[in-house]
Amino acid sequence: MKGRSFLKLLDFSTEEIRGLIELAKDLKSDKKNNMEKQNLKGKNLVLIFEKDSTGTRCAFEVGALDQGARTTYLGTVGSQIGKKESIIDTARVLGRMFDGIEYRGSSQEKIEELAKHAGIPVWNGLTDKFHPTQILADFMTIEEKKGNLSEQKLVYVGDGRSNMGNSLLIGAAKMGMDFTLLSPLELFPERKLITKAKEIAKDTGAVINFEMLPKKALQDADIVYTDVWLSMGEDFHMWKDRIEMLKEYQVNKKLMGYAKKDAIFMHCLPAFHNLETEIGEKIYQEFGLKELEVSDEVFESEQSVVFDQVENRVHTIKSILVATLG
Ligand code: CP
Ligand code: NVA
Repeated sequence: MKGRSFLKLLDFSTEEIRGLIELAKDLKSDKKNNMEKQNLKGKNLVLIFEKDSTGTRCAFEVGALDQGARTTYLGTVGSQIGKKESIIDTARVLGRMFDGIEYRGSSQEKIEELAKHAGIPVWNGLTDKFHPTQILADFMTIEEKKGNLSEQKLVYVGDGRSNMGNSLLIGAAKMGMDFTLLSPLELFPERKLITKAKEIAKDTGAVINFEMLPKKALQDADIVYTDVWLSMGEDFHMWKDRIEMLKEYQVNKKLMGYAKKDAIFMHCLPAFHNLETEIGEKIYQEFGLKELEVSDEVFESEQSVVFDQVENRVHTIKSILVATLG
């Protein structure tokens, strides 16, 4: 995979995704046993975040530093990107200084453009369409907790056409999983992507379903996964409609009760499960809801593996860096 960009799972074969997960497991065990070897000594990476981040940014920084690489952070203010310098010129500027570029922003087209002109690997740290590094961490966590991906039923609940809905759909299809997307019809992924996932599923043996009724969708689920109802970049005024559309889809004890007894709960984070955030408090003041996509009870329960997912972000992002640069 040396020299390749990591922009979306659609660009990678089942075997390549499997290879990245296996490498991440090895890197995790090396780190835990104080046996990590630095494969990226002397490399310089630039991390562009046009949207906020805790987990992804820190995973890139820790992963790079563990492997001996240096990082430069370009945040929402302070660079010329998009203001005085086009994305194509930015690609050519950074391509002359760095060995790899992480990019988080709105547009998938923009990151594809960046990768086309940079001449060095570009890694997708989230766009409105896809969040592929997250999926590697999630799949690694599922294997650690439940075993083979192809033996699991994964149900994604909530905003089905967000970066997480889209990426889990493609990831599950690629890895031959039993996958159900549970959301209201208005929030199903776009038709083209559904067709693509179903095509992939024919080759991998994946089972792909779309449901609107929680009880039916969650039956026999091994994994229940949700994400925020409104993503970064969507305007606050949209909360009203989104809450209306999704309030019956909150992952709470009742919904978890439809899944298998030993099902795990997953979330890519950040999560609205209490009032201890500014936005959570503002939503409470306007709409009276204390918890949104997941109840605090489920988030804090034994079934929840959300912080294992976060830790695996480091190992899987490191795996991508080593595979494409090492
Ligand atoms: N899951 C994830 O991408 O989190 P951050 O927004 O904190 O990076
Ligand atoms: N769908 C969320 C994912 C955050 C990691 C967002 O884009 O805000």
